[in-house]
Amino acid sequence: MKVLLGVCGSIAAYKSLELARLLQKQGAEVRFLLTKSAQHFVTPLTCQTLSKNEVYEEQFVLTKGIKHLTLSEWSDIFVVAPATANIVGKAACGIGDDLLSTTLLSFTKPVLFVPAMDQGMWDNAIVQKNVMILRGHGFHFLEPSVGVLASGKIGRGRFPSIETILKKIVAVFEGRCSLNNTNFLVTGGRTEEDLDPVRVVTNRSSGLMAAELMRAIYCRNGNVRGIIGEVACTLPEEVEITRVRTANEMSGALSKNFGWCDCLIMAAAVGDYRPKRGSSTKIHDAAYRVDLEKNVDLTKEVTRQKAGRVVVGFSLEDKNQVQRAREKMKSKRLDYVVMNSSSAVGDTRIRASILKPKGKPIVCEEQTKWQLANRILDECLPQLARRKKK
Ligand SMILES: Cc1cc2nc3c(=O)[nH]c(=O)nc-3n(C[C@H](O)[C@H](O)[C@H](O)COP(=O)(O)O)c2cc1C
Repeated sequence: MKVLLGVCGSIAAYKSLELARLLQKQGAEVRFLLTKSAQHFVTPLTCQTLSKNEVYEEQFVLTKGIKHLTLSEWSDIFVVAPATANIVGKAACGIGDDLLSTTLLSFTKPVLFVPAMDQGMWDNAIVQKNVMILRGHGFHFLEPSVGVLASGKIGRGRFPSIETILKKIVAVFEGRCSLNNTNFLVTGGRTEEDLDPVRVVTNRSSGLMAAELMRAIYCRNGNVRGIIGEVACTLPEEVEITRVRTANEMSGALSKNFGWCDCLIMAAAVGDYRPKRGSSTKIHDAAYRVDLEKNVDLTKEVTRQKAGRVVVGFSLEDKNQVQRAREKMKSKRLDYVVMNSSSAVGDTRIRASILKPKGKPIVCEEQTKWQLANRILDECLPQLARRKKK
C-alpha cells in the first residue's frame, strides 16, 4: 500500500511520525506532504529520514511532473493526519491554495481525514458542517477521541490512538466502511466475583477479542458501545465503554443498553458461578471450603426482549463443540455462534468456526483476533441488512 501522509499545523503533528513508522513496519510505503504550518511542529528533515522518501511541501518548484497530479497517481490512499479545522474547511469549499489542498482537489482515490483540535474548534458548527459536506462527498473521517487536550482540558478533539488510525486506514483501503447507522453493543473481558476483599473467582479471558471487535466496528463507521469487565489488553479510547466487574453488574449494564442496539455481540467471559457467601474481611481459616452458586445466564435473560436484533454469542468448548454450540444457539436465541477452544483464551491469535442456524460451520483458520473480528462482521452484514429493512 502506498500512503500519501498529509500533515497539518496541529500540536499532534509529531504523532504522524510514529504513524509513518508503524505504517512502514506493516509494509506500506509512505510519502509525507507537509503544510507550511506543519513545519512549525515537525521538520521536513525528520520526515525525509523516517520515510526514506522526498518530502513534499512546495507547490511552485521545478520538478519532472506537476506535483499535485503525480502524487495523486503514485498513492493508493491519502491520509491527512492530523487534519486541522483549516484544511477541513478549505477542502469542504474546494479551495486549493497550497500543495496539500490542491492535491486533495485532484485526488481520485480514497481520502481519510484524522482531525485533531481543541474541543471548541471541533464542536464549532461551521467545522461540523464542513465535516458533513466532505462525508457527503465520500471523504472518510476518523473522529477525534475524548481525552486530555493540548490546552490541558478534557474533551473531544484528541488525535485518535495510532493503533486505531492504522486499522482505519486498512478499513478504508479495503473498502470496508459500510456499517453506518448501525448500533453495536459488545460485551467483553472477564467478570470476577469476590471471595473476600482481596480474592476473586475469575477466568483468564484477556478481553482482546472484544477490543478488536469494537475497533473494527468503529473503523467501519458503525456506532459502538462496550460493556467490559476486567481485561489484560488496551481498550480503544475512541469507544464509549461501561466498565463492570461482576456478572450482576454486567447484567445491569446490558439491560440498560440492549434497547439501543441493532446487534449484540456477547464476547465476554461471564463467570458461570459465584461464591454462595463472600466474606467482608480477609479469610484466614486453615481449611476453607468454597460453595458456589450459578450466575444468571446473561444472554438468555437479555434475548427474551430480542425482537429484530441480531445476536452473536461465543462458545468455548473443548469437547462435542458443534453439538454444544448448536444447543447454545437454540436455547439462547442466537443468530450466530463463534465456536472456539480454550487455546484462544489470553492469546492474540484464534482458530474458530462461525455457526449459522442453517448450513455448515464456516471454518476460520488460525488468524489474529482483529481478522476474526472483521470476519464476524462480514458474516453478520447480510442478516443485519435484512432485519433493518423490515
Ligand atoms: C501551538 C499551536 C497549535 C495548534 N494546534 C491546532 C490543532 O491541533 N488543530 C487545529 O485545527 N489547528 C491548530 N492550530 C492552528 C493551525 O495551526 C492554523 O489554523 C493553521 O493556519 C493551519 O494551517 P494548515 O491547515 O495549513 O496546516 C494550532 C496553532 C498553534 C499556534
